[in-house]
Amino acid sequence: MRILVCGGAGFIGSRFVERRLGSTDDSMIVLDRLTYAGGRDNLEAVEADQSLAPRLRFVEGDICDAETVARLVADADAVVNVAAETHVDRSILDPAAALRTNVVGVHALLEAVRTAPALPDGRRRRYLQVSTDEVYGPCEGDPHRETDALAPRSPYAASKAAGDLFTLAAHETHDLDVVITRGANTYGRRQHPEKLVPLFITNAIDGQPLPLYGDGQQRRDWIFVDDHADAISTVLDGGEAGSIYNIPAGHERANVEVTRAILDHLGRPWSLVRRVEDRPGHDRRYAMAGERIASLGWSPATAFDDGIRSTVDWYREHEAWWRQRRDRAWDDYYEQQYGRRLATATTG
Ligand code: TYD
Repeated sequence: MRILVCGGAGFIGSRFVERRLGSTDDSMIVLDRLTYAGGRDNLEAVEADQSLAPRLRFVEGDICDAETVARLVADADAVVNVAAETHVDRSILDPAAALRTNVVGVHALLEAVRTAPALPDGRRRRYLQVSTDEVYGPCEGDPHRETDALAPRSPYAASKAAGDLFTLAAHETHDLDVVITRGANTYGRRQHPEKLVPLFITNAIDGQPLPLYGDGQQRRDWIFVDDHADAISTVLDGGEAGSIYNIPAGHERANVEVTRAILDHLGRPWSLVRRVEDRPGHDRRYAMAGERIASLGWSPATAFDDGIRSTVDWYREHEAWWRQRRDRAWDDYYEQQYGRRLATATTG
């Protein structure tokens, strides 16, 4: 299969590329805008591997650019869209960026799939949209099922929900072969340090305060990036057209527990934790049921503790990677997001 991976130089995308190329004969084109969250260096391991590199081509570009996208989709049997603005806090500061990539970009890709020349032998071109549990909004009772109504509460979640709805509409209206995955909170190697797990690991390594929002009792289901990448592959190969697949890990933890696990693996003290002003509209809990993807034969393989330990080790061993991302633009973001919060914080 020839796969166009949009956002393949990002966190989840680059791991999907690595693991899928390593386990199949597929070839891939990665299209990536290389925003602050992606990086050419995220594909270095694949490009250094002689059994994988010849099957990968990289194109720098934007999913909103209809011409580029049309040209690349024409050469692909399937499109996997992992390109997204993914950070809730940034979407609160700049919702337009989420709207552009997560909605307009998805629309551009769907249009390219709809209008692309037919594949030989009547084969259909599959479009896989990588989405998130956040589209359901907070979970107050039973874990969310794929048939539940959407109730997004942040600009990020609203933009992802809109992307999902455009994707489903393309199936209903134009009979496109689409599938949607909704992953739980993902962590692992190469995640940009703005997100909870890598932020707390890298701050703790430097002896800097860990800014825990509110009471720290917000709950998330944490999935290791390798498991998430493999689940995307499973749905790409076996998902039913027009269907949604939740990707839960079954590792629900409060933020205080995640923080404790990180500090324990690093051997750093709890006194680094600061209780800071909460995120506005902060969802208390995400949880999803996973029977549908289990029926395709996928289940998560990584225990939470093992995943956190290997992630901590990776950041310890790849200091140059994350220091490069904590540059001047990072300092501006950090000041805007945490400056006042840390100045008015209480100890953990
Ligand atoms: P995040 O990694 O931003 O993912 P999401 O909000 O999409 O679930 O945050 C995970 C949890 O950690 C969330 O409940 C917010 C919390 N959090 C903090 O307490 N402090 C922080 O500095 C960040 C980035 C997140």
